[in-house]
Amino acid sequence: MAIARKGTKTGLQSGVCQFFQMMIVVGAGIIGLSSAWRLAQNGVCVTIFDARETGAEASWAGAGMLAPGGEFEESSLLTQMALASLAVYPDFVAELREISEIDIDFRRCGALDVAFADSDAEALTHRAAKQAAIGIISESATHPGTVAARFYPDDALVNPRDLTRALRIACLRAGVQIREHERVTSIVGNGQGVRTQKGEYAAETVLIATGAWSAQLLPTAKIKPVRGHLVAWNNCNVTLGSILRNGSAYLVPRRGQIVAGSSTEHAGFVRTPDPAVIADIQTRAALLLPALAGLTPDETWLGFRPDIEGGIPSIGRLPGTAIWTAFGHYRNGILLAPETARSIAASVTADQCADGDCNVC
Ligand code: GLY
Repeated sequence: MAIARKGTKTGLQSGVCQFFQMMIVVGAGIIGLSSAWRLAQNGVCVTIFDARETGAEASWAGAGMLAPGGEFEESSLLTQMALASLAVYPDFVAELREISEIDIDFRRCGALDVAFADSDAEALTHRAAKQAAIGIISESATHPGTVAARFYPDDALVNPRDLTRALRIACLRAGVQIREHERVTSIVGNGQGVRTQKGEYAAETVLIATGAWSAQLLPTAKIKPVRGHLVAWNNCNVTLGSILRNGSAYLVPRRGQIVAGSSTEHAGFVRTPDPAVIADIQTRAALLLPALAGLTPDETWLGFRPDIEGGIPSIGRLPGTAIWTAFGHYRNGILLAPETARSIAASVTADQCADGDCNVC
C-alpha cells in the first residue's frame, strides 16, 4: 500500500526544497509530532503512525519541566542541545499557539533548588559553580524551612498535554497524515516502509520516534523504560510561583494544577500504579511545600522514560540505511523536542538534496 508518490511538488513553502520524499514517522509523541511538523514544513510528505492516540504515553505523563538547571552540570553536546532547545521554546510555543489556537500553558517561571542540610547546601553551591561555567545561571536565594536555596531564572514549564494537542493540529494543517491506533510491527527492509497490523506501507525513509518502545522496532537500540509516577492537586489553595525542587523531588505549578514528581523505577512496562511510591512522592512534596500536607491528590499517573545506554539520544540516520532515529531523550523529551525536530528536518532535507532528489535547492 503506497502512501504517496515520489517526485510531486508540494508547494507548501517557497524558498525551501520542494521535491519531496515520502517519510513515515513511527510514534506520535512530542518527538515524533514535532519532527513530523518540521519535516512537513520542509516539504517532506509525512505519515505518522501510533499504536495509541497522539501524545498518549511519556509526552502525556511528563511534568513539563524545561529545566536545564535541574538536569545538567557538565559541558556536553547534550547540554548544548538542551540550552539551544530552551532558547527557542518561546518561539516554538508562539508558532504553535498561532497555528492551533490552543492556549498552551508555558511560562518562564524559574526554579528554586533547596537544601535541607548543610551537606546539601555545599553540593548546591558546588553544582551552581560548575553550571555557571557552561552557561546555566543561578543566584543565591532563600526559602522557609531550608538551609540554602538557589534560583534558576531561565528554567521554565510547559504543559505537555497542551503542546501535543497543538502539535497534532499543526501537523494536520501542514499536510501530515496521522494514523492513530495502528501499531507498527516492523520496518520493511532497511527503511522502505513499515508493516502494521492492518497492512504494509511503502515510503522512502522511516523515522523511529517510539521512545521507550524503540527497541521493539530496532533491536540494536539500547533503550529501556524507566517508570516514573506523578501526583497532582487541582485548583488547590496553594500558591507556588516557580518550580520547586530538592534532589529527585519536584513541584511544578501548572495553570490550575500543582504536579509533584517523581520516581525512578526499573519496572519494565508495568502499568499498575504503586501506592507506596505515590505515598513517598506525597511525603517529599509536603516537605517541599508544607501546605500540601494532608491534601488528597486529585490525580496520580505514571509514564515510561526512554533511557538509552550512554545517555545521549539517538538522533540522525542509521548509516547505510533509510532509517532515521529520534529516541532516548530519557528525562528531557519535552525540553529537547524543538531542537530534535529542527535537527531531524534539517538533516533529512540536506540528505535529500545531496541525493539529487531536489530540483529547487
Ligand atoms: N523530567 C522529569 C522526570 O522525568 O521526572
